[in-house]
Amino acid sequence: MFHFDEMDAQTLLLYFSLLILSLNFFFQSIKPKLSRLLQPSLETRVKAALLSRKEVVEFLDSSVVKQEDDEEEDEGDVSTISSSTFEFDPYMTSKAESVNKALDEAIPMGEPLKIHEAMRYAILAAGKRVRPILCLASCELVGGEENAAMPAACAVEMIHTMSLIKDDLPCMDNDDVRRGKPTTHKVYGEGVAILSGGALLSLAFEHMTTAEISSDRMVWSVRELARSIGTKGLVAGQAMDISSEGLDLNEVGLEHLEFIHVHKTAVLLETAAVLGAIIGGGSDEEIENVRKFARCIGLLFQVVDDILDETKSTAELGKTAGKDQIAGKLTYPKLLGLEKSKEFVKKLTRDARQHLQGFSSEKVAPLVALTDFIANRNK
Ligand code: IPE
Ligand code: IPE
Ligand code: MG
Ligand code: MG
Ligand code: MG
Repeated sequence: MFHFDEMDAQTLLLYFSLLILSLNFFFQSIKPKLSRLLQPSLETRVKAALLSRKEVVEFLDSSVVKQEDDEEEDEGDVSTISSSTFEFDPYMTSKAESVNKALDEAIPMGEPLKIHEAMRYAILAAGKRVRPILCLASCELVGGEENAAMPAACAVEMIHTMSLIKDDLPCMDNDDVRRGKPTTHKVYGEGVAILSGGALLSLAFEHMTTAEISSDRMVWSVRELARSIGTKGLVAGQAMDISSEGLDLNEVGLEHLEFIHVHKTAVLLETAAVLGAIIGGGSDEEIENVRKFARCIGLLFQVVDDILDETKSTAELGKTAGKDQIAGKLTYPKLLGLEKSKEFVKKLTRDARQHLQGFSSEKVAPLVALTDFIANRNK
């Protein structure tokens, strides 16, 4: 018979360590479920939701529309806001060139050299510049000048680049390729990458304050930008994105996925457009319409990103393809399948255009074309 008082100290320690290890294993395995139970209900968290529950259910219940019907539907929709005479490619190229020049000037080399080198490496790489162009186009939509919105456009691109540097870190998505080049931490190491991300974030706010607008509109802009990237925006989305890895379809619904995508991506696109409209001198009503429009194209942007991850190659994307499935990310193709996700892209494109109805068709042409670009892009 085994007697406790006969056990020597070493055996006791061994049993104790085994007990701790088993308890640790048990708590680690129930931790994800426990933390989800303790979180506030999703309803209270999905504040920035785009779609009502009813719309989500209706969309899921609808059958996949055939290709021919889609095309007809699209043609009918285009007739409401005409962009047929607008030349988007030269517009996009010239805006991207102006943004690249402004970014180059906004981040000159200086001490600490490695940090500035890494900032410039990350930001001057081949990004599409969708957010700054959205900011400039929204400024012009409400009658403002491109120059006035350029500091805000650059600020948004600095913050976006910071979010990419962090998103690629080994503790986040662990990616080696970005904008067709090795990721910033691969070239400069994690310490410099994190610091250069922080420097881009702080420079963004400093740089935005160089815009020549009234102090009221500047304070408003700073508040919008700050709010969009913290726990009410990007950080909330990214936090939910990483804590949702590996969840299966029985554990989450579309509201959960929409929360992630709206926060991690849509809110910054929304803010880019809203800043443009604020700086351009837009009325409250104009700014709110621009906000609703941009929230739609923001979600659209991330749904397309999910689709591209599954359907394109690393060479085409300039970032690692097929990564979402390997990492067990929650994505639209995972929840809806590819066909239904593509249909959702069309629905969001139509919804976005609806919010531009209040503006003259000539003035909205760049934003309509930008929406189509976001929906149909290949990278
Ligand atoms: C990538 O954004 C990150 C997402 C929010 C999906 P972009 O596709 O705009 O990346 P760049 O700026 O063109 O590199
Ligand atoms: C990232 O989403 C959104 C950010 C806030 C950076 P993803 O993780 O899908 O972006 P990619 O695919 O790496 O560009
Ligand atoms: Mg990510
Ligand atoms: Mg990523
Ligand atoms: Mg992605």
